[in-house]
Amino acid sequence: MVARWQESGLILRAFGALACACILGAHAGDAQSARWHSPHDVAFSPDGTLIATSDRTAASLWLVDTKEKRVGRRISLRGQPTGVVWAADGQRVYVSECGAATVAAVDPLSGDVLQRFEVERHPEGLALADGRNLLLVANSTTHSVSLVDLGGTRETTRIEVPREPHHIAITPDESIAVVGNLLPAGRATDPAAAAVVSLLDLEREVHLGDVRLPPGSTAVRQIAISRDGHYAYVAHVLGRNNVPSTQLERGWVNTNALSILDLRTRTRYATVLLDNPVRGAADPWGVALARDGKSLWISLSGVHQIARLDLERLETYLAGGLPDEHRLARTDDYSPGTESIWLRIKRDPKNRAALANDLAALTAADLIERIPIPGQGPRGLALSPDGGLLATAAYFTGAIVLLDTKSGGIAGSVQLGEAVEPDPTRLGEMIFHDATKCFQHWLSCATCHPNDGRVDGLNWDQTQDGIGNPKNNKSLLQAQHTPPMDWRAVREDMELGVLTSFHFLMREPEPGEEEAVQAFIRSLQPSPSPHLDANLELTASARRGREIFTSKEARCSKCHTGPYLTDMEVHNVGTRGDLDRSNKFDTPSLVEIYRTGPYLHDGSAATLREVLVETNKSDRHGRIAHLNPQQIDDLVAYLQSL
Ligand code: HEC
Ligand code: HEC
Repeated sequence: MVARWQESGLILRAFGALACACILGAHAGDAQSARWHSPHDVAFSPDGTLIATSDRTAASLWLVDTKEKRVGRRISLRGQPTGVVWAADGQRVYVSECGAATVAAVDPLSGDVLQRFEVERHPEGLALADGRNLLLVANSTTHSVSLVDLGGTRETTRIEVPREPHHIAITPDESIAVVGNLLPAGRATDPAAAAVVSLLDLEREVHLGDVRLPPGSTAVRQIAISRDGHYAYVAHVLGRNNVPSTQLERGWVNTNALSILDLRTRTRYATVLLDNPVRGAADPWGVALARDGKSLWISLSGVHQIARLDLERLETYLAGGLPDEHRLARTDDYSPGTESIWLRIKRDPKNRAALANDLAALTAADLIERIPIPGQGPRGLALSPDGGLLATAAYFTGAIVLLDTKSGGIAGSVQLGEAVEPDPTRLGEMIFHDATKCFQHWLSCATCHPNDGRVDGLNWDQTQDGIGNPKNNKSLLQAQHTPPMDWRAVREDMELGVLTSFHFLMREPEPGEEEAVQAFIRSLQPSPSPHLDANLELTASARRGREIFTSKEARCSKCHTGPYLTDMEVHNVGTRGDLDRSNKFDTPSLVEIYRTGPYLHDGSAATLREVLVETNKSDRHGRIAHLNPQQIDDLVAYLQSL
């Protein structure tokens, strides 16, 4: 089990000997988590001399000297620093302070925080439209993008997007912002359920529309845009949730993708799989495009690799330009006797659609190279202005790893602060995000439970309650306090839930792995709802909603009771669907319900309002028939605040 960390240069003693410090992991304001350094996003200064990186667990911004390959300065910040972007003149670094509802403007010379812009509670990705003097901020949990006028102190416009924006990129002419929504919005019962990429018009400051990714797409991460502004490259997970999760072989449960969007037609041009038939490229995260447009770099956070795509040839082949003399123009390497996918695309470019299901396409045409890095969990990626260096944030190693882009060799690694030995909780967090623990490396626990053990917005047909009855994903927050597990209460408790998840979705855990993941789940802390007021108190509407929730008439608190708002019993509340084997479901916890949609066991309610109104026509799920529209609004406001 320790092999990976030994390989990556981290020293690790048998963790059994370490005391279990509780409450750890990536949680804002937590004294323990500050011990770990977890670089999340990286950005080169415009002159290439510095790399700025956000340290999500140690509430810091680090500046790394590129030439000396050593840490220059550390600046203390608030919350969990996430997105990082430099001003074009190099005089400021902007950093999202997720959880603190602010973006800090840091002076890289003095290290002073010059200003803080107020945004929504959980800012993630940032982008700068320099010519417009605008900073764009992805407000993840309130599903919007703030446009902040850098001449002032606040946002001037807020544009709504479908669901949890995490990354933003802007076209070179600053006309369009491309926003990756991390999770699918809408009902999970829709077989086409998938995350979308939103396009914003920066001239008119409006939402132009969305480009849908293939069914099962989720965990949408970093985005890069071609220099001519025609294409956007988006890294994401492509779950195979429309088939029962009965085996892992050949990407049956999960695959990992890059989608190319045509920004002129506002459509998806192609989706290619980064995996190969026997090795997953789990949890793609960072994307960086070479200035000459010839290579695209993608960090594969679950397998600790950087992929390099030969973009020049890929785009030629995608357009049907496979040379006649190419061996793939004669036969398919993987299925001899059949036509290769590239030949089929050459005959008819519409065949590009088949690429989203073709595990061999990139490998067969030698379009992808996967480079292992001496670090664990690479996230954000950035290229130096001269294109010679690629920097990635090795989240769990606490280091910035540098690659020489010409040779593809490792050019160095800069440790942020001291390398601290992981304790069981941090180790559990690492295993939770480590797809090399999975047979053929297809996925990690975090593939389906992103955002520190929360949900992916999809339905899955898993084996623990018999196949043929898909269930919506569940957050693991406080799962240790709310046995039994699963919508149908089939697994006794969180501990068994972890063990069987290993058995069915990863492989047999090695000694200690299961306990470490359990320790990580126990460490998860709720993040205060963005719908609370600035003092983290209920708003007036939510207070009225609480009255209704606890009233004898509505009956909500009859079942949603105690600190986790569940009686831990199963009930028939009239929500049985056509595919269900039973009409009884476990009362779910309502903590953090603002971020765990869609709702109900089968994800048939897109919103909390739908739970109350659409799926409760029989008035069996609490009583709401007597409530007027204002009271329903108040009840929703209360639920949103939990
Ligand atoms: C392919 C997607 C997927 C992967 C990978 C996955 N899970 Fe889950 N997990 C789910 C879904 C869907 C549910 C809800 C199942 C149900 O209620 O029937 C769930 C439920 C759980 C639960 C029960 C939560 C509760 O409160 O009822 C636990 C615990 C859990 N998962 C842990 C893990 C661990 C640990 C891993 C990695 C070893 C993992 N999961 C990997 C999809 C996944
Ligand atoms: C008889 C027990 C009971 C009562 C009373 C009850 N609930 Fe529920 N609640 C449940 C059960 C069981 C589920 C899961 C149903 C399903 O998955 O199909 C649920 C699901 C929910 C969900 C969706 C949670 C999720 O994660 O998807 C919300 C929101 C909710 N209840 C709110 C309420 C409100 C508001 C009231 C009062 C109007 C209420 N409940 C009354 C038992 C109850």
